[in-house]
Amino acid sequence: MGTAVGKILAVTNQKGGVGKTTTCVNLAASLVATRKKVLLIDIDPQGNATMGSGIDKNAVSSSVYDVLVHRVPVAAVAQKAPSAGYDILPANGDLTAAEVELLNGSEKEFRLRDALAIERVEYDYIIIDCPPSLNMLTVNALAAADGVLIPMQCEYYALEGLTALLDTIQRVQQVLNPNLQIEGLLRTMYDPRNSLTNDVSAQLAAHFGDRVYRTVIPRNVRLAEAPSFGMSALSYDKQSKGALAYLALAGEMLRRSDAVNALPTA
Ligand SMILES: Nc1ncnc2c1ncn2[C@@H]1O[C@H](COP(=O)(O)OP(=O)(O)OP(=O)(O)O)[C@@H](O)[C@H]1O
Ligand SMILES: [Mg+2]
Repeated sequence: MGTAVGKILAVTNQKGGVGKTTTCVNLAASLVATRKKVLLIDIDPQGNATMGSGIDKNAVSSSVYDVLVHRVPVAAVAQKAPSAGYDILPANGDLTAAEVELLNGSEKEFRLRDALAIERVEYDYIIIDCPPSLNMLTVNALAAADGVLIPMQCEYYALEGLTALLDTIQRVQQVLNPNLQIEGLLRTMYDPRNSLTNDVSAQLAAHFGDRVYRTVIPRNVRLAEAPSFGMSALSYDKQSKGALAYLALAGEMLRRSDAVNALPTA
């Protein structure tokens, strides 16, 4: 059975525009659809996950900035995403200041981990949307996480960027968080007609084996439209290929963790 503490996943890739935020919002909504209790944490000053969840980033009275810098409890900042039913810790431009303000702070890499220590029992999954850089915000996410979910496009330079990310993950494992695992690599904006896609997929399989999700996320216009309505694709158009792909991802993730939990314990 295992103990009922939420699994914390950092959705990370320092390359911009690979589908991190789209994955966070739609995976969170899909897990809610399977009756999981989910907290989405927006740790990107762009606040895209916040807006995409239907919350005006400029109208929030407190944000993840207050959690990191002023140690305000998660429960005091979390809001319910209006249409999708997960909780969210919102972010906005205030967060750009956090890095500087944390510079001389104590335990600056562990602010998020410590903030979640109590709160994680409230959730089945906690999903962190990281900014497109390997900065102190991303380090906070990696220090707090059990697993890293890496969305990537199957293009030539994607593999090159992966090396820097894997180095960072390894350093975090050595110095800050020995329990950190690579949860999975997710192929986004997938186009099977592109031959490079197949080459890169084969290389990923060779390097990462079953850490590469079998589920792929196709390029789908509904996934791109839904955020402007502050909705997940599941709320916006539940029959869309994008919504179905993220439901499939949630299913694959849950089956994997069931398989792990079913292993006999020593
Ligand atoms: N599968 C998809 N099909 C079509 N459009 C997509 C898909 N995934 C993401 N997009 C679009 O591509 C753009 C980048 O996606 P997204 O914002 O999720 O990436 P990101 O990695 O979070 O970006 P950033 O690094 O800036 O945070 C957005 O406009 C989004 O709507
Ligand atoms: Mg993003």
